[in-house]
Amino acid sequence: MKKNLLLVSMTLFALALILPACSDDDGGTAGTDKMLFEMAKSTSGFTWFENSDANLPKSSGTGHSEPLLRTRYNSPAATMLDGDGRIKDGITFPDGSLIVKELLNSNGSIGRYAILYKQSDHPDADADGWVWGYIAGDGSVTEPAVNKGAGCRGCHGQAGHIDFNLMNKFF
Ligand code: HEC
Repeated sequence: MKKNLLLVSMTLFALALILPACSDDDGGTAGTDKMLFEMAKSTSGFTWFENSDANLPKSSGTGHSEPLLRTRYNSPAATMLDGDGRIKDGITFPDGSLIVKELLNSNGSIGRYAILYKQSDHPDADADGWVWGYIAGDGSVTEPAVNKGAGCRGCHGQAGHIDFNLMNKFF
């Protein structure tokens, strides 16, 4: 009897050690959105689409509600831009590429960040290596990365996309 009690308490003790470790994994997912948010907020070292930081009116094809936008590419992503700051035909972005679309309110303030981050071996990456982020300016998450772009890929994979990017098609 005593032995059983000891076994039970040892099992409970082991569970108490294991369970928090499991919920840490969920924290890692929240961590992906936080990581994307931090990466998106920093603006240094980016190249703007068409080499211009001007606010553009959203296109007819957009799935994003804010009226204005501008899109920038970190240095690995910018290797896939031509001299005019447009995406080269038929390219695939390398791992480490970060593409941030700032979705802006009519007064020019940030409404949300729409984010594409290429990291093939990331647990939240889709089959094409993209991690999808959709995060408000205050850090609240509109569509979590763990969804792997479920609400994004259908539209972003439409005819004329370049590695799921649509700026070239609509601008
Ligand atoms: C109904 C179509 C549609 C849906 C759904 C959609 N987008 Fe977009 N997205 C666009 C279009 C069109 C553009 C090009 C510029 C614009 O917004 O007019 C774009 C641009 C972008 C860009 C800039 C890079 C580029 O050239 O594509 C990012 C990043 C982005 N979207 C992320 C997302 C994320 C993340 C989601 C899902 C949470 C999402 N989008 C859902 C249509 C869509």
